[in-house]
Amino acid sequence: MHTPVCELLGIEVPVICAPFGPWEEVELAAAVCEAGGLGSLGTAARSLPELRQQWSRLRGLTDRPFAINHTTRPLDEDAFRATIEERPAAISFHLAVPDDLIARAHDAGILWIQQVMDARQAAEALDAGADVIVAQGGEAGGHGGEVSTMVLVPQVVDMAGDTPVVAAGGIADGRGLAAALVLGAQGVSMGTRFLASAEMTASDEWKQRIVAADAVDAVKATNSDGILSPYTRPGSFGVPRTLRTPLVDTLREHPERIDPTEVVPLLMEAVRSGRGDEYLPFTGQSAGLVHEILPAGEIIRRVVGDAESVLVAVAAAVAASRASGPSGPSGAAGAAGGG
Ligand SMILES: Cc1cc2nc3c(=O)[nH]c(=O)nc-3n(C[C@H](O)[C@H](O)[C@H](O)COP(=O)(O)O)c2cc1C
Repeated sequence: MHTPVCELLGIEVPVICAPFGPWEEVELAAAVCEAGGLGSLGTAARSLPELRQQWSRLRGLTDRPFAINHTTRPLDEDAFRATIEERPAAISFHLAVPDDLIARAHDAGILWIQQVMDARQAAEALDAGADVIVAQGGEAGGHGGEVSTMVLVPQVVDMAGDTPVVAAGGIADGRGLAAALVLGAQGVSMGTRFLASAEMTASDEWKQRIVAADAVDAVKATNSDGILSPYTRPGSFGVPRTLRTPLVDTLREHPERIDPTEVVPLLMEAVRSGRGDEYLPFTGQSAGLVHEILPAGEIIRRVVGDAESVLVAVAAAVAASRASGPSGPSGAAGAAGGG
């Protein structure tokens, strides 16, 4: 399965592993790259020496293309400048569309992958010359908007012309990849599915919670602005989706009980020491589709293989129903559901 976005990014299969903010994912990114997908590294809340160490470790594990991610919560100018000097194949970006940064990346010959949460943001990203648009539905883990993947992807595809669109949010198996392609996307970006992978350096407790979770267990952490880093660019927005914790429940139900002067230092210390999931285990509704922890390469093989099988089965069912006359469309629905 090879789509034009694979050519553009220099990858073999149209699967991107999402960046995970401050969470360490060097081994995961390497495994994804080695399996033919695009690995990513987040940059949030990490010092420049730590980031440089991660980049150099990843380069030691793979010589395939990868992306380094930045967001506006906050944008770290030093880390961004260092990223340009590092020259990854692509820079991915989230929470606002920064024309000036896109121009700097392009001047350095680096591709720009812009994640968007609604059609207005997609129009901004296309105007600013983004090379790939990730249309992220509100099902997604981490920061996101409200529009569902099913609505946003075709909306963005209709606007994007020749610019490739990748679907994100709620995708965790081959049916999700197949559906994304049918909606006009050229690939998928998955976060939650890869969190529950063997290579991800997340706590075993978090991975097990993802495996056990239903979709409704991944909720929007409303009222969290006061305890998260401020946005550093106008037009930024997003509300994190996360599994429930005592902090998330209090934020949602009794925000007046949260004292940021008390919570922020605890949260930042936990994030910096890799325990951020004790407070905000960013996770998407696709947790309801994740039933086991698997090696990243196996996840990619299954997602791509199952997508191909589903698409072939649907095409065969459509052909069969056409051959048998106008009364047979139920066959296509049956085949699609079985994947
Ligand atoms: C733990 C976690 C951290 C995330 N951090 C970032 C980030 O720093 N930058 C970013 O662009 N997206 C981030 N995201 C969002 C992903 O890019 C992606 O849109 C999302 O995971 C897709 O939805 P899914 O989780 O249902 O696969 C994060 C997602 C998760 C689950």
